[in-house]
Amino acid sequence: MWIVILPLVALCCTAWWVITNKDEPPAYPGYLPLIGHAHLLIGDSIKLWNTVKELSYESLKAGGAIAVSIGPRTIYVVTDPDDYLTVANTCLQKDNFYEFAKPWLGEGLVTGDLPIWKVHRRLLNPAFSQVVLDGFLGVFNGQSRRLVRDLEAEVGKGPFDHWVYTRHNALETICLTALGVDFTDKSVLNSEYVNAAEQMFNILVDRFQRFWLHSHWLYSWSGLRTKQDQCLKILHNMSNTVLQKRKTDYLRNRDCKDVEQKTKGLKFKPFMDLLLELAIEKGAFNNREIREHVDTMIVGGHDTSASVLMYTMLMIGSYPQVQEKIFEELNSVFGEEDRDVTKQDLSQLVYLEAVLKETMRIYPIVPVTARRLDRDVKLRNYTLTRGRTCFMFVYGVHRHPMWGPDAEEFKPERWLDPATLPECPTAFAGFNMGRRICIGKSYAYMSMKTTLAHVFRHYRVSGDHTKLVAKIDVMLKPVSGHYVTIERRKM
Ligand code: HEM
Repeated sequence: MWIVILPLVALCCTAWWVITNKDEPPAYPGYLPLIGHAHLLIGDSIKLWNTVKELSYESLKAGGAIAVSIGPRTIYVVTDPDDYLTVANTCLQKDNFYEFAKPWLGEGLVTGDLPIWKVHRRLLNPAFSQVVLDGFLGVFNGQSRRLVRDLEAEVGKGPFDHWVYTRHNALETICLTALGVDFTDKSVLNSEYVNAAEQMFNILVDRFQRFWLHSHWLYSWSGLRTKQDQCLKILHNMSNTVLQKRKTDYLRNRDCKDVEQKTKGLKFKPFMDLLLELAIEKGAFNNREIREHVDTMIVGGHDTSASVLMYTMLMIGSYPQVQEKIFEELNSVFGEEDRDVTKQDLSQLVYLEAVLKETMRIYPIVPVTARRLDRDVKLRNYTLTRGRTCFMFVYGVHRHPMWGPDAEEFKPERWLDPATLPECPTAFAGFNMGRRICIGKSYAYMSMKTTLAHVFRHYRVSGDHTKLVAKIDVMLKPVSGHYVTIERRKM
């Protein structure tokens, strides 16, 4: 027994000594022997969100960084935008916590190990070039019209959960653009996938909070692991089925001269086809890697955009004057016409984009990212020690004093004038920053602006974001208080 306890105590004391050392960020109060600050993790995922907020403010107060510990592990919490960028570009390897998601996403870009990520990111960047994205605009318009039609069922019926609609719609959109597969009439499959993905996020956070399950060995015996395997069956079944089908089609049509037949009538090149091309023609990926990239794109691409749309509709519904300004802008671009959104229109929807950014600043749907420190990192005020974990708290970065005394207020106007924005270009970290910035950022803006342009030409929305109760399920998710009501506008 003592053989186990003594080294543990020694390790914890070393951790405690180091985090109270001079050049290190100050330690967050509440350290307990053996477990450190792990008691902060106990509770539900609503409490976890409150802890993230509390640690953010504490880190801001301390000049942009503090240290906490989970057992013998020291973890830094960084909230200074310049320091965030320094860590993000100095240490590109994701932290061990991302390993929890590897059974699901493997070596996809979010969870992939550094050597693989470097090669694959370079290969995949062209799939998100502006030319490719422009080709998706037809799908974005079609899907937005579909959402407008679906929402019709809720007109005049009082508060409803609009997130259900944005999630199903965003999943169909990503399946169309990334996989080239139309799931719009397969709502059962769609619901099953959305539920399994939601459960997987729950499981990942549950495991993080039950710190004894951080050990892979203990986790492999737990009930959570059994639940995880059930979810993975559903999630992988979908991507494997699609992959097999697209691969057969690809091989059959490879030598086909008839372009219409070759592309099955698609006016764009889905992400999956680029992967297959690189895999079959250049041997760049094996089947498992293709599936992992596809899974990553589906998860990274649908839940994120759907959540931002949900929060944005709630914010717009909470601020009638913002809603009127959006409507005026839409009117000036489209007049009375219910036409499709074009590339030129998107560049004119400046206020709408400001509303999206301000919503993501207030409610960063990826509130925390993490890196493994493979070297000592010198920050503005402190030095972080090699071998530890660095959590970058986006929530705190977005409330840094450089945002001004009104940092907590929802003010889309701040984005319209460079003088009212922080000079530091990395003060906004909604899509992460540095070399591992979100690959889908432009895709997300295009699809979300198109959706909102259709929805707000048709409907007036009301809600009250001050009632929102949120939790962390990897991403920032609503628990209650996010429902909105809609009424039809006269076009
Ligand atoms: C509003 C929508 C979105 C937001 C707020 C968002 C946010 C983010 C953030 C914060 C990261 C960094 C995650 C981390 O380091 O832990 C990230 C990475 C990533 N995102 Fe997004 N994302 C969005 C949409 C998309 C879309 C539409 C796609 C794909 C179609 C996508 C694909 C990815 C991928 C593949 C990565 C990993 C990038 C890398 O490490 O090379 N995201 N995203």
